[in-house]
Amino acid sequence: MKNYCFLTFLLGLTLLFSNCSRRKEAIKYSNNFDILPDRVWAGEDFWTIPLEDWQINEGRLECTGNSSNMRTNLITYPIKPGNGTFALNVTCGMLHKGDQEGTVGFSIGVKDDEDPDVKAACYFGKGLNLGVRTNGVLFIEDQTVSFPADFSWEKFHIQVEGNFSLKGKAITLRLMNEQQEEVAWLVKESIDEIEGLIVLGVNHHVASPFSNGPSFWLDDLEISGTKISYEEENRFGAILWAMYTNSRNVLKLTAQLAPVSAQVNGEVHLEIEEGDGWKKLATEKLRVDSYTATFRVGNWDPDLEVNYRISYSENLKDGETSDYEYIGTIRKEPVDKPLVFGGMTCQYGYGFPYTPVVINLLKEDPDILYFSGDQIYEGNGGYSIIRFPAERAILNYLGKWYMFGWAFGDVMKGRPTICTPDDHDVFQGNLWGDGGRKIELEDWQEYAGTSGGYIEPAEMINVVHATQSSHLPDPYDPTPVEQGITIWYTDMVYGKISFAIISDRIFKSGPKEAAFWEEGRKDWITEQGIDLSRLDKPGLKLIGDRQFEFLTHWMKDWKGANMKVLLSQTLFANIPTHHGSIDGILAGDMDSGGWPQTPRNKLVDLLRRCYAFHVCGDQHLPLFVQYGIDEFRDAGWALCTPAITVGYQRRFLPDRLGIPYKNRPDHDLDNTGEYIGGMGHKNYVYAVGNLPDNTRSELRYERAQLSSSGYSIITFDPESRDISCNAIRFLADADRLRPEDSFPGWPVTVNQFDNAGINRTGDKITIQSNGVLNPALLVYDAKTEELLLSVRMKGDKFSGIVDGSGRYNLKIGNPETERWKTISELIPGEPGTNPVVVRF
Ligand SMILES: [Fe+2]
Repeated sequence: MKNYCFLTFLLGLTLLFSNCSRRKEAIKYSNNFDILPDRVWAGEDFWTIPLEDWQINEGRLECTGNSSNMRTNLITYPIKPGNGTFALNVTCGMLHKGDQEGTVGFSIGVKDDEDPDVKAACYFGKGLNLGVRTNGVLFIEDQTVSFPADFSWEKFHIQVEGNFSLKGKAITLRLMNEQQEEVAWLVKESIDEIEGLIVLGVNHHVASPFSNGPSFWLDDLEISGTKISYEEENRFGAILWAMYTNSRNVLKLTAQLAPVSAQVNGEVHLEIEEGDGWKKLATEKLRVDSYTATFRVGNWDPDLEVNYRISYSENLKDGETSDYEYIGTIRKEPVDKPLVFGGMTCQYGYGFPYTPVVINLLKEDPDILYFSGDQIYEGNGGYSIIRFPAERAILNYLGKWYMFGWAFGDVMKGRPTICTPDDHDVFQGNLWGDGGRKIELEDWQEYAGTSGGYIEPAEMINVVHATQSSHLPDPYDPTPVEQGITIWYTDMVYGKISFAIISDRIFKSGPKEAAFWEEGRKDWITEQGIDLSRLDKPGLKLIGDRQFEFLTHWMKDWKGANMKVLLSQTLFANIPTHHGSIDGILAGDMDSGGWPQTPRNKLVDLLRRCYAFHVCGDQHLPLFVQYGIDEFRDAGWALCTPAITVGYQRRFLPDRLGIPYKNRPDHDLDNTGEYIGGMGHKNYVYAVGNLPDNTRSELRYERAQLSSSGYSIITFDPESRDISCNAIRFLADADRLRPEDSFPGWPVTVNQFDNAGINRTGDKITIQSNGVLNPALLVYDAKTEELLLSVRMKGDKFSGIVDGSGRYNLKIGNPETERWKTISELIPGEPGTNPVVVRF
């Protein structure tokens, strides 16, 4: 096996010495791409944008797209500041002429003024553009020189020289024909310092985007000089990152690879560190649509804290292999301390690579991460989505998805990650999956995106599910939905917390099924006071029958857990009053989990029966809410986490609209208290992180901060049962959190038992357990056999409310040892029931 960095034999990393009296190290890099197999991925030194427009083909780097601003960033050899020289050479040729004037050449000194990170430079960096235009001019920015019209575009060479000394700074650009004869040259003097990435650009001159421009191949890239530096740590790939979960002694881990070549024996290996070496755990075949390998390791010891290594070898054309590895850590499952949970959602691309949030997450060191959805948006990366065909859509998705892992990979490599896709992840601004139904794009557009179903091909949806969620614990019921679309809803027990991880999109009905108005969008209620019950038609789905069946099973399973938490994409209430902008007032939104009302109420009731807390995202509005079903505050609490970066804006400004409220919390903050929500529910809004009216800023990260972006940290204490929540702003410093770094109303602590709802009515059941501490208690209606209450008692006493027929069957015991006692036909209030004493 050869060295991990396969390009060591490709690149001549040599030390030259300049003529200066002070000896300077000159670095040389070259790549003729000859031994690389045909593949999409350009290699660990490069990052190509858009991903689907570049490939290695027949020993060349080809840009096959025809749009503007396609680029290959050389991420490992940036130009450094100071005096010195550099020389760049590349051989090019035209692939397609197109019908637009295009360019090929370099951007040099590409960096992002706001974030020095190489990732930011790739997507937001600006540098000096130079090269050749197909209208027959050589250009360095605005400076141009013409060359003869009979120039052959079949094969030519571009050379760049930079000379930076005390005497002056100059860039020389030369165009040579195939025979290496100079065709034209251009010098630009008195330029500013050049510092940053070297980028190969195609159609990188254009101010306004276009399609059907020319495309080019590039080859024989040579870079050298004393102003060139080598940043080894910038390498990215072929194993890009990994996500894992461990639950109930099963480790699941998915390795995400770049689009490497499809090869006969594409095997990915997983090892753990043991002594001085590595012990093989498992080998899996690389899935070549999603470029993932998912490992499942049974008998996993949760007390083990160990480094893991993922490795992959790719065959090269010269008979050698290039060998890649990726190292992370499986951490010991915390069982004797509160579980620190990082809640994230919604990554709008202007905030990429979200460095302030990434740094804060590393500082917060959460035990587990939750990315609830919208890990991509359609516009992320600065280029459009491709919907069809599936193969192109998948590559286009992967290019955007890779941004997520590039940004958060270092956080995810050392802790379990729960990641679930939402609507934008499958290229639908809103998703009502309708059980996986296929919907034609035209039908979807005709009804303004309110018909149920998936537009994208099932192959693409399944790649989204594989990349985002294949490392979750095994699905409760893996049977695919319509079109063979895979599902991933499941539960996970970690740190004595039992999480249910569900989709509130895959099974949901489309608003078109219910909306009765003629004009306007079918998912938006623009008029106050309409009869909302007319939208609650029988048979409409929210989470679907299958997930209800799963939750009914989950709610009674307390093995290894003291508390229950439901994770889903959105809130089961419709809170915001303003959508899109400060002028966009809306009475109701069926995209929220507040609709359809009947399954929503059934779900919220199920959650309160097992004292479950709800964590979600999607809204782009940090919220801490107590649900109501019949009365205000008669059900559980929910945290809607701040978006990592807010794009689409939502606000909750009922006070401004004169919407009446009651029982404002003690903190007396505006826009809090008991309000009737957009879908008619009784919502108690304890805290909201509203955006100011104006969120404009030239600076990306400042705009994110102003737009109420950030993350949440939730601490679940399985002993005290306290749930402590903080929603933290984008630009906070986690080491020095000031009160203003939390959104108004946070931090806030509730207790597990508050999730029953303080205004709940019914029969009171009081238990005294003798002989078993912290038993699980299940209370069934004696008549209907329905499970009405499910709890892990704290200590030996408990009292709670059930709403049933008045006669109840109780099951109480230790779920770990399966030692149970039953009590039948209990009638609360009768003698001997206050408390009911259970002896083991
Ligand atoms: Fe979102």
